[in-house]
Amino acid sequence: MQNVAVLTGAGISAESGLKTFRDSDGLWENYHVDDVATYQAWKKKTDLVRNFYNERRKQLFSASPNEAHKQLVRLENKFNVQIITQNVDDLHERAGSTKVLHLHGELKKLVSETDPFEIVTLKDWKQTPDMKDKSGYPLRPFIVWFGEPVPMIEPAIKICQKADILLVIGTSLNVYPAAGLIHYCSNQCKKYLIDPQETNGGIPNGFIFVKDVATKGVKQVVEELLIQN
Ligand code: APR
Repeated sequence: MQNVAVLTGAGISAESGLKTFRDSDGLWENYHVDDVATYQAWKKKTDLVRNFYNERRKQLFSASPNEAHKQLVRLENKFNVQIITQNVDDLHERAGSTKVLHLHGELKKLVSETDPFEIVTLKDWKQTPDMKDKSGYPLRPFIVWFGEPVPMIEPAIKICQKADILLVIGTSLNVYPAAGLIHYCSNQCKKYLIDPQETNGGIPNGFIFVKDVATKGVKQVVEELLIQN
């Protein structure tokens, strides 16, 4: 079975009603990264940050996977598919994808401030100030904030190194180390970029550009791959 690596960003969930970060009216137009997405912000403006992620989580609880998430599940019939997502939503899992690696954390989870292995899954959208870990220490959103290490980058690199096919879907490729993953794929790897817009730096070398929204572009590419194999 051939290995398909899939790198997804906020664009794949846009048609499920979740905002991207850098499009017009994206999240970073309405919030300052330094106010809500750093550990310093969490320490200084805890209520603001907690509310920001509560709001994101509330929207996620009422969102559903779209056709793009579902099409990727179909690929598992013929390929070894490994999804690497920058998204903190769980729409790939809810669509039925079996191998999903989250690079930037998971919105529905909290983690202890003192023990990175103590992770709690929330049953509803709201994190309240009284929520503590087993030892009584505070819990924080299970999100990789700007300036923090990305512990899952090493396994993600290995997945890219083994890929026969790479699909990059709905990411502006602005944020590192995630954006650098595409460079770990071999020259033989067949690479697709699915996005309605060219990324800032243009189309990376060796990529087939499918200029479309995820629900249409992913369907087209998945059909193509399933017919060929
Ligand atoms: N289908 C596919 N792609 C889309 C769609 C759509 N319907 N709508 C928008 N896009 C594309 C945009 O053209 C853009 O290239 O999705 C991309 C979204 O880019 P960003 O908002 O920068 O999101 P992303 O690349 O996932 O951001 C990376 O930045 O702040 C962080 O941690 C956050 O994981 C996130 C990281």
